[in-house]
This record gives sequence, C-alpha cells and structure tokens, in this order.
Amino acid sequence: MPRELNFAVLGLGMGIHHCHAIAEAKGARLAAVCDHDKARLNEGVKMFGCEGYAKYDELLKNNDIDAVCIVTESGLHTKHGIMAARAGKHLLVEKPVDITPARIKKLREVVEETGVKCGCVFQSRTEPVNLRLKQAIDKGKLGKLIGVHAQLPWYRAQSYYEGSHGAWKGTWKLDGGGSLMNQGIHTVDLIQWLAGPVESVCGFTGVFSHKIEAEDQTVAILKFENGALGTLVTTTCTIPDQSQRILIYGEKGSFAKTDALEFYEAGGKKERQQMMAWYGKKKASKIGSDPMAVSSAGHTKHVEDLVRAIRRNTEPGITIDSATHAVEIACAIFKSAKTGRTVKVNDLRK
Ligand SMILES: NC(=O)c1ccc[n+]([C@@H]2O[C@H](COP(=O)([O-])OP(=O)(O)OC[C@H]3O[C@@H](n4cnc5c(N)ncnc54)[C@H](O)[C@@H]3O)[C@@H](O)[C@H]2O)c1
Repeated sequence: MPRELNFAVLGLGMGIHHCHAIAEAKGARLAAVCDHDKARLNEGVKMFGCEGYAKYDELLKNNDIDAVCIVTESGLHTKHGIMAARAGKHLLVEKPVDITPARIKKLREVVEETGVKCGCVFQSRTEPVNLRLKQAIDKGKLGKLIGVHAQLPWYRAQSYYEGSHGAWKGTWKLDGGGSLMNQGIHTVDLIQWLAGPVESVCGFTGVFSHKIEAEDQTVAILKFENGALGTLVTTTCTIPDQSQRILIYGEKGSFAKTDALEFYEAGGKKERQQMMAWYGKKKASKIGSDPMAVSSAGHTKHVEDLVRAIRRNTEPGITIDSATHAVEIACAIFKSAKTGRTVKVNDLRK
C-alpha cells in the first residue's frame, strides 16, 4: 500500500471543510493547518490533532507536506499557490482559482514550470446528477442546444460582509466582485461545463441591499459558442433565499433542476423515469443563506482526485485551464456592465 499523502490546509474559514474532506478521503492525511488568525488556528489544531502554523512560509519549509489546499481570500490564491508550487507542493485551489484570467495564467505558468499537480475546486461538477446531465448533453440527447437559463437567488445578511473575515467579501480587490464572482461562480461554471463555452455577454450589475463595493445583484444575457442563448441572475438579496435553478433546452429535449431534478424530458421513457426516480427528490439545504452549510462530500472527491493525479502522474479532473472559463465569463460580464457594451469573452485572453 502506498503511504498516505500529507496535506496541509491554508486558511481556516471554508478551509475547515477541506480538513474534514481530507480526513474522509482515501490516500490522504491532514498533516497541518495554517492561519494567521490565532483563534482559528488553535481551533483547527484542537479539532484535527495536526500541526499548526501561524506563518505560511514556515509551513512551506516542512518537507513532509506533499500538498496544500489554498483556501484564502480569492484574490490571494495565485500568490499563495505560486509560493506552494515553488516549494514543490502540489495544490488544491478553492474556487475561483483567482479573480482575473491574467493572474490565473501566471499560476498556470508556475505550475507548469515546477511540475506540481494543481486541482481546482468546483464541487458541483462532482455531483452525480450533474455528471448524468452532462453525459446526456454530450451524447446529444437534448439535440442542438437552444436555451440555457440559470438563477442563483441567495441571501447574505450584512454581517456576512463585515468583520475581520467578512470585509474582503464584495470588494473588487480581493473578491473580484460580489454575488457573481463569489456565490455565483459555481453556477457560471456549471452552465459552461454543461452547455459549452460562452462567446459573448451583456451584463448589468448593482448594489441593492448591502453596504458593499462591488455588486449584490448581476443579470446577464449570454451567447454560447454553439449558438444557444442564455440568461443568468446571481444575487445575495433574496428574502427568503431560494435554490439555484437551471433550465436547459435543446431541439430534442430539456431539463430543469433546483436542488433536485424538476423535470427531465430526453432519451426514452425508461430513461426519463429513471432520472426522476434517482434525482427527483428534494434534499433539504440551507446553503442559500448559510455559507458554512456546504457539504464536504464534493471536496473529498477533489482531494481523492488530486491524490490519484499525483500517484499516477496524470492531470487532475479539474485543471487550471478547465476552471478558468468561469472567471473569464464573470469578468466579461463585469466589463460589459461597466462599459454598457456587449463583450466577447475571447477578448479577455488578448
Ligand atoms: N467551494 C465552496 O463552496 C466555497 C464556499 C465558501 C468559500 N469558498 C472559497 O474559499 C476561499 C476562502 O473563503 P472563506 O469564506 O473561508 O474566507 P475567510 O476570510 O473566512 O477565510 C480565509 C482565511 O485565510 C486566512 N489567511 C489569509 N492569508 C493568510 C496567510 N498568508 N497566512 C495564513 N492564513 C491566511 C485568513 O486569516 C482567514 O482565516 C474563497 O476563495 C472562497 O471563494 C468556497
């Protein structure tokens, strides 16, 4: 049996979920946690009985650490990822990889240069229902796609944006936006993963019910490269919060889902009945109003995927390249909202 790989977690907000995920994952062991917030650090060490570091560069000097989960403020991921890669550590980077395509490119260059593996977190892609829906689209069961519509009507109290771990949220500098780049990036990634790349966008943003800098509501129209048209709404203003909803239809079929499949009209009768029996039951979820209500099951799969990639010397399931397009789309929407023009997503790569 190969030895378990030693993981460390940097940043102990959402990072606590990474600790649980590593503890549950096969082939991984939580060796250390790091946070310069002493209270969070002490709690993490107590909870998981591992080593604790207040200084990131001290953690990186520990030669026993194989991989680091980067769970710091979104606009610091490239900086912290590059430091770990240069120290020879493999990476698991939280969503969004970073808040601009240019920064993500820098991280990718250093990952390539150092030869470490870098997995990226988008746990929605690990959910069985989403994997089945992607398979159905890829096999042409919906036919040529026509419409892709997504809403994320969530709620965050003002207190979420305040205090020592809240003040960076909803800022351009560290969050790269608000409801779109932070909460909504999962939805953006999911629709581009399911329906394909986005060619151009037209967006509107505003701050409606919070004291924040960037936006708490974004509405956009999307044109996909395959010709489909779409709409996207992300907000943290909905009282009470509602589930994410995605509706996709093509020439031959369609589906809609919230926390469960609402309907699935594709394939034969047997397939329709099976899909509804497997995925049609609603699960209770508080995720729309409680940021810590995320299950760690998806993260466990990400950790196991990184372990596999390291052992077999293959690419992780979600590479930096694969995780970049969601950030490109979000940045294009913000550019459109700022300029009042339709923006081609490709232009962000120039
Ligand atoms: N996948 C998901 O569903 C999900 C959910 C929530 C948050 N996130 C992502 O996780 C990341 C963190 O979000 P959060 O809500 O936990 O933020 P947070 O502010 O609560 O936590 C970040 C932590 O990193 C620590 N930190 C930052 N720089 C450090 C350094 N140089 N050395 C040591 N510690 C350092 C901070 O002290 C803080 O405790 C963000 O990128 C966010 O988008 C993902």
